[in-house]
Amino acid sequence: MAQSVEAYREFFESDIIPPSWKHKVWDKEEFKKFHAGTTASREAVEQWWAKWADELFWLKKWNKVLDDSKPPFYRWFIGGETNLAYLATDWQIEKGRKNKLALIWEGEPWDETLQQPKEVKKFTYYDLFRVSNVISYALKEKLGVRKGEILTFYLPMIPELPFYMLAVQRLGAEHSVVFSGFSAESLASRVIDSGSRIIVTADGFYRRGKIVNLKSIVDEAVKICEKEGLKIERVIVVKRAGNEITWNLDRDMWHHELIADVPTKAYVPVERQNESDASFILYTSGTTGTPKAVQHSVGGYAVGLYATMKMLFDAKEDDIFWCTADVGWITGHSYVVYGPLITGLTTVVYEGSPDYPEPDRWWGIIERYGVTLFYTAPTAIRMLMRFPEEYVKKHDLSTLRIVHTVGEPINPEAFLWYFKNLGKEDIVASSAWWMTETGHIITGHFPGLGKIFPLKPGTNGYSIPGVRVDVVDDDGNTCPPGVRGYFVITSPWPGMLETLYKNPQRYIDAYWSRFKDKLYFYTGDFAVKDKDGYIWVLGRADDVIKVAGHRIGTAEVESALARHPAVAEAACIGKTDPVKGQVPVIFTVLKKGFSPSPEFENELKKYLRATIGPIVASDAIIAFVEAVPKTRSGKIMRRLLRAVVEGATMGDVTTLEDGVAIEEAKKAYETIKSALESK
Ligand code: WTA
Repeated sequence: MAQSVEAYREFFESDIIPPSWKHKVWDKEEFKKFHAGTTASREAVEQWWAKWADELFWLKKWNKVLDDSKPPFYRWFIGGETNLAYLATDWQIEKGRKNKLALIWEGEPWDETLQQPKEVKKFTYYDLFRVSNVISYALKEKLGVRKGEILTFYLPMIPELPFYMLAVQRLGAEHSVVFSGFSAESLASRVIDSGSRIIVTADGFYRRGKIVNLKSIVDEAVKICEKEGLKIERVIVVKRAGNEITWNLDRDMWHHELIADVPTKAYVPVERQNESDASFILYTSGTTGTPKAVQHSVGGYAVGLYATMKMLFDAKEDDIFWCTADVGWITGHSYVVYGPLITGLTTVVYEGSPDYPEPDRWWGIIERYGVTLFYTAPTAIRMLMRFPEEYVKKHDLSTLRIVHTVGEPINPEAFLWYFKNLGKEDIVASSAWWMTETGHIITGHFPGLGKIFPLKPGTNGYSIPGVRVDVVDDDGNTCPPGVRGYFVITSPWPGMLETLYKNPQRYIDAYWSRFKDKLYFYTGDFAVKDKDGYIWVLGRADDVIKVAGHRIGTAEVESALARHPAVAEAACIGKTDPVKGQVPVIFTVLKKGFSPSPEFENELKKYLRATIGPIVASDAIIAFVEAVPKTRSGKIMRRLLRAVVEGATMGDVTTLEDGVAIEEAKKAYETIKSALESK
């Protein structure tokens, strides 16, 4: 939910000190020494990251922490060689975790008679090792997958997704996971951009008691790819829901048939990867119509994940870790799969919806597996807190010791609800901020700081030691406490993106060019710092919106809708929503000869579903207008549109874009307001 500074101000002064703050990770002096918000020296920062890197296994030890000779193309742990699959399985086994549970998976279907999930699967580290080796072997020997190749995964929340991720890591190949809520068209454009010849998918999966057919979306996407000249050689299909699908004999292959004749003891030595290699790409939205492929490293990414698992989550041997994010987004990559596995924890994966069959499904999962560390999204908390508290009270959640949220700002009310209902007011809790580009958590509240830094409801806390952040004005100068500015990262950090795949110039332009004379990483967020130095991220400062935590580019929505034959123009912005955070409002101008109607609105929604996917289409509000208000130079007056949807008055938009007469703006304001009110 995009917040104003005012929404938080009264909490700047608050300090919650839970009665038994047991976690001892930090001491004040250590925190201060390395906390980059202070004056930590370059040497101290490098020592700090070296200390974390030393806790990880390296196939060949690095000889330099940071190479910053070609900024902003920073490289970490120079000369070091490692591999994410090695860290997540081989190394865990060497450390004695062979028979420890690595993954607990729960399918959505519910057994009404037994009052328990119909399907639960548990995998040890050794299971994970064996299965991923078998898949690796099949990919390598049968399909010729090699180092550097990119495979696209369009998979639901089933164990095969982490299996395949680890399998490609073994080979030094890369994955591009596309969230299963994207449409065929969105999938196809990502496949084409990455040049994948192999797509891995499932027949279907369960969502709110229904089967979603994934394979048919892939079939559609493959057609688009082939029309654009990219031949998809193989579609590997995991049998999950048993739904009927169409089959192309030359191209499609069942996952179970692919591995059927692979020796069960198959072993594929891992590819040694250094600072110039990549582990994966992940498409994310920005301010233009084309998604950006964020490319991540191997060693630096692993160190950042490992360190944040320890710092923010205080990961210990017997922790059961549950991050509720879909693996299709960065949070799932980092904190469902790689983070918990390289720290040797047990990670929980749930296939379905939080309110199926009843709104206590999640609380039951925490109870069933004794979850200790929980990482979730504000939108889910807001959805679940609308139900009677009995749903939570019914379950024993006393194992929980740390609960953080991610994806968007959390309003203090939702924070206090979960602090009380999930945590009995005795947990460490905060809103841990980061983004696809950062690879791992950058700010949050640290267990172990105890009375030095009390909790404040809704805060993003401090940056992790070793990373410097700031809140700055348009010129890159630090804003005084309490004043809103742009949230920036002012020093490199280990898990940072390496570049944008195939587009280094866009990497420089999108992230490193916002401020004259200052090489700061521009996050695209607004934030404010309070007088104690706590960060409060307020929401996006650009044309990216967060719908139920999902990152959507409004430009993508606009250009998709504008391809509809009846649409002349569209302007999309986010509207604050009490549960979803934001929902898209699309002001739409129809071409001559077409007139607005509820049927037409439905058709456009269907079109959105086909072009972008249900994540946008389900919540979109379409408001038909005669014209979208523009400045004389032709730019859409977004600020005016935002003011209207947020219910601001004309007075709140007094300084409009250049060249807009106030009368003109007023007229536009009234027209779009009435279009919106007719909704
Ligand atoms: C927002 C998700 C406030 C922010 C990991 C950021 C947050 C965008 C928080 C990145 C938080 C993420 N508090 N806002 N704790 N975490 N955001 O790439 O606007 O899907 O820029 O990565 O989510 O979204 P992305």
